[in-house]
Amino acid sequence: MAGELDQLKIPIIINANKFPCKSILSTAHPAFDYSGEGKMFTVNYGRSAASFIEGIQWVYEIEEIPPLIEEILVALTGFCQTDLIKDISRAVFGFSRDIVENLMSCIGSIFGKELEDFTYVVCWDGVGELERWKLVLPDGRPVKIEQTIHQIGVTKDYVVLMDTAFIMGLEQVINNPFPKNQKLEQHLRKLLERPPLPDSNIYIVRRADLKAGQRPASSNKEVEVVAQKVVIPLEAAHFLVDYDNPNGNITLHVAHLCGMQVAEWLRKYDISASQPHKPVPDYLHGMEHDETDIGRMGRYIIHGETGQLIESQVISDINATWAVDLYAYLDRLPTGLTPGKLENVYWSSFGLWRDLMTKYIVDLYDDYKYRLIPLSEVIRLAQKGKPACLFRLHPKSMVIADRYEFPCGYMTLSSQFIPRGDGESSTNGYIVCAVCFEDKKLGPTNQIWIFNGNKLSDGPLCKLHNSKLKFGFTLHTAWLRQISERQASYKIPVEQDYQELVDQNNPEIRKLFKDEVYPHFH
Ligand SMILES: [Fe+2]
Repeated sequence: MAGELDQLKIPIIINANKFPCKSILSTAHPAFDYSGEGKMFTVNYGRSAASFIEGIQWVYEIEEIPPLIEEILVALTGFCQTDLIKDISRAVFGFSRDIVENLMSCIGSIFGKELEDFTYVVCWDGVGELERWKLVLPDGRPVKIEQTIHQIGVTKDYVVLMDTAFIMGLEQVINNPFPKNQKLEQHLRKLLERPPLPDSNIYIVRRADLKAGQRPASSNKEVEVVAQKVVIPLEAAHFLVDYDNPNGNITLHVAHLCGMQVAEWLRKYDISASQPHKPVPDYLHGMEHDETDIGRMGRYIIHGETGQLIESQVISDINATWAVDLYAYLDRLPTGLTPGKLENVYWSSFGLWRDLMTKYIVDLYDDYKYRLIPLSEVIRLAQKGKPACLFRLHPKSMVIADRYEFPCGYMTLSSQFIPRGDGESSTNGYIVCAVCFEDKKLGPTNQIWIFNGNKLSDGPLCKLHNSKLKFGFTLHTAWLRQISERQASYKIPVEQDYQELVDQNNPEIRKLFKDEVYPHFH
């Protein structure tokens, strides 16, 4: 039997209990309420085993199954608290007819017990222990996140969660199980991948209900609160909310990425969507695919108590809204408080790129539910290219009030609003952004461009560059009026926090933590 185990290449020691860095699902954008007690809101959620291994039935079609099982086990163990050694061993030693089927059903049953749907709102005052509340729907069922919660928002009276269009599934957690067999890897992606949901599920939680929550560090007493569910058409990754919610009405500002799989990337075997379907250039491996329909900007008013959608405005722009990704706005007043409502928001878009319009992404969105521009036309536009764009949206009128279209071949990311003057105007400031392009003499070039927030259309006020400035694909940014020493007294000693888990690992991991991790936290 030991020989068969060896042949299967199943890692004998898979024990999620000792992973020094556990996989925890949370939001990339916690929300802060700077008024009153100054609390931070975030989330912790779990996806059921079924949602993670929904593609496993297809795995039977794969011939080189053992390495794949190994990848799946390693990836999934990060999401559970079980000791897999004995469970897997039991399955392996107990097999009789079909080892693959046995193992798969074993994995399903293990994770079925350990990976359940749950969603917590988590709150922290910056001083004490984290508090959390389990979210349930009005009928008592737990709130089930089907994709991810990339972003949350907080208003005066509500916390707003969105099930966002970043898929987190097996396809994202397994890591190239067949490096020598591209055809097999290609087949696996095809079997496991699915496009994000075309609608956005939103959950609204009343802040007044977030009292006396559970403190997991000291108590297991579960505290449940009810969340109102609202569904709006079109998928999204990023959204903002007005802090004020007059009469319980919440205003949502949403950038809809339409027909785009942000959690996917170009592979070596990807080919162009256009004839003659040439392979994508090497230097683009790992890059995002294009959007396959024009993106839209939405402004929604939702009643926080009932979840009723009261008002909805959605626009698009043939030059500006191709994959609107990141935002910048006046997020703090000189008082330190959040503006009551967003009067202007700067957004940047990805544009359409010939080499990023792959056959894979086009096939994935062949029957996109909310298509506005025919797919053949989108492919044609991509051939010519659509520019990246930085624009200012005036939410009240839903008009793009100002814009700068970048030259062809330029990409912009990471825009940041920097106020000037008294710091109270939503347009009196600078927009700083990262820009990437191919310079004819210098090759790949990274620069930082600075725009006048009042007049994007004039183009950049200045461009900062240095031959040593290399930042690649950047995402979100932050800006501080001034930098000073950290003043908070809250501190969890890193070594004390991790050592028990680190001690259970091999000498290499122990040395890594001792030499490369702990010294940074003394
Ligand atoms: Fe983000």
